[in-house]
Amino acid sequence: MAEVIIVQNEEEAGRIYGRAVADLIAKKPGAVLGLATGSSPLAAYRELAAILKEEGTDVSRVQGFALDEYIGLPLTHPESYRSTITRTVVEPLGLNPERVHVPGDSLNGAGLDDPACAEQILAAGPAYDAAIRAAGGIDVQILGIGTDGHVGFNEPGSSLASRTRLKTLTEQTRVDNARFFEGDLDQVPTHCITQGIGTILEARHLVLLAFGEGKAAAVRDTVEGAVSATCPASALQLHPHATILVDEAAASQL
Ligand code: GLP
Repeated sequence: MAEVIIVQNEEEAGRIYGRAVADLIAKKPGAVLGLATGSSPLAAYRELAAILKEEGTDVSRVQGFALDEYIGLPLTHPESYRSTITRTVVEPLGLNPERVHVPGDSLNGAGLDDPACAEQILAAGPAYDAAIRAAGGIDVQILGIGTDGHVGFNEPGSSLASRTRLKTLTEQTRVDNARFFEGDLDQVPTHCITQGIGTILEARHLVLLAFGEGKAAAVRDTVEGAVSATCPASALQLHPHATILVDEAAASQL
């Protein structure tokens, strides 16, 4: 059963997340953070960075694991999730970039059109899950949610037991994300590698953030709907420690 907290705005949600993570790092300097892209976590990263700076916290041993990455984008592309995580998390928090992992990093932008890489792409998922396990598992995983209830890039229909793997992006998600590629759908990758729902559920604490009316139906299905692959985020109901931070608009259908 997830705990739902209605906040006034993204900054208030960010302060709740920031406090929880700062307390965790104080107790466990080698804390393992699960990281997400998208606009929803940005205020949370800003608030966390402010708290860590104010308290002079040593983050040199903190580790990070991102949720997902596009297939076929060079890592240096400004919209690769490696670049996004570097810009929004690693730099503002002052994390050691070598301790922050993004799935498929080893592919270095290789695409599915390169047959020599196909095997490597299939191996990248299990390798990522193994790296998370070797780090001792994720302590706090931050999550956004898609309007269709996806988390990471686990689109509706994803098995609730799924592991990190190659996925095809839905047309809707590619259209939604075209805004990051000059509005040009042809530039949006067709595939990605994403932590599975089963992988995500292994994190010790899940913090899902959703703001705005556009997320209201997905939040309702997540919290009050049946646990079902139709709304992958509904799997949070199975987690013993899940916190859902929403503003009034995102909570309006509860
Ligand atoms: C993408 C990401 C998700 C993110 C979602 C919502 O699909 N892969 O991790 O949660 O977008 O993004 P936003 O927070 O910008 O609404």
